[in-house]
Amino acid sequence: MSKPYVFITRKISEEVLAPLMEIAEVHSWNSESEAVPREVLLKEANKADALLTMLSDSVDQALLTQAPNLKVIANLAVGFDNIDVKVATEQGIAVCNTPDVLTETTADLTFGLMLATARRLTEAETYVKEGNWQSWSPYLLAGSDVHHKTIGIVGMGKIGQAVARRAKGFGMEILYHNRSRNDVAENELGAMYCSFDELLTEADYVVCLTPLTEETKHLFDADAFKRMKPSSIFVNVGRGQVVDETALIDALSKKEIAGAGLDVFYQEPIGADHPLLKLPQVVALPHIGSASVETRTIMMELCRDNIIAVLNDKRPKTLVNREWGR
Ligand code: DGY
Repeated sequence: MSKPYVFITRKISEEVLAPLMEIAEVHSWNSESEAVPREVLLKEANKADALLTMLSDSVDQALLTQAPNLKVIANLAVGFDNIDVKVATEQGIAVCNTPDVLTETTADLTFGLMLATARRLTEAETYVKEGNWQSWSPYLLAGSDVHHKTIGIVGMGKIGQAVARRAKGFGMEILYHNRSRNDVAENELGAMYCSFDELLTEADYVVCLTPLTEETKHLFDADAFKRMKPSSIFVNVGRGQVVDETALIDALSKKEIAGAGLDVFYQEPIGADHPLLKLPQVVALPHIGSASVETRTIMMELCRDNIIAVLNDKRPKTLVNREWGR
């Protein structure tokens, strides 16, 4: 009997893949720099029993309806907005993500990005490296304090909670807005639930960690930025399309808000000539929320194990479509 066919859309650790290679024929798109071209992905999906995908791969209806053997999609991310989960479920395909294992790493990045934006770290580094530092002066590259300010977290899931824990250590007041109340955040971290508008008005740091859904698309629009304090900083480690980027550029240019720390963008990768990147008060990162070597390795292992489970007719550990297989 031939082995099941697994396609991986990026080069990942061979050591991680070893146990999968024992039970399956494994093929990968091996470029470090270039994402798998759509036509290659479609061709591979057409013969695949399993796909290990990145958040940048669109696993849409067109792909799924041309993947007759596909049993499992293991996405190397906690977010899964790149996958049409409804169609996958209708076709009996298990969709898996990588929750929990990236929580602390992504919270570290979120907090670091907030600090970097508030204290103008990237601007200051460029200043030194470009040889502009001629003398010390009291307000040279002076930013805003983070400690004892108010953080407003939009999207209080596990990562939100981990960010709140860090904020508590900085003596910050913690506000949050979420679809539902979070008892751990409230009782253990002292976070206060409030309406979205209230959070925007009160917070010094508005931190977006919400997933991209139909409800959250363009949640941060012109009106939202107008409600924020002129001294406030917006941080986004959720998804780019939760923000109306034109409205954000406008708000930053008109100084309706003071700055933005962005790990995610409407269109990724963002072009170097994008107007957002021309603004000195913007700190921009290439979607590296969970990018530590340790965490990315654990994420790969989880994807591998989920694929092995489904190929062995077992329930994977981290299913998105929990109704699968019932
Ligand atoms: C995810 O896993 O969805 C994050 O965006 C990775 O940084």
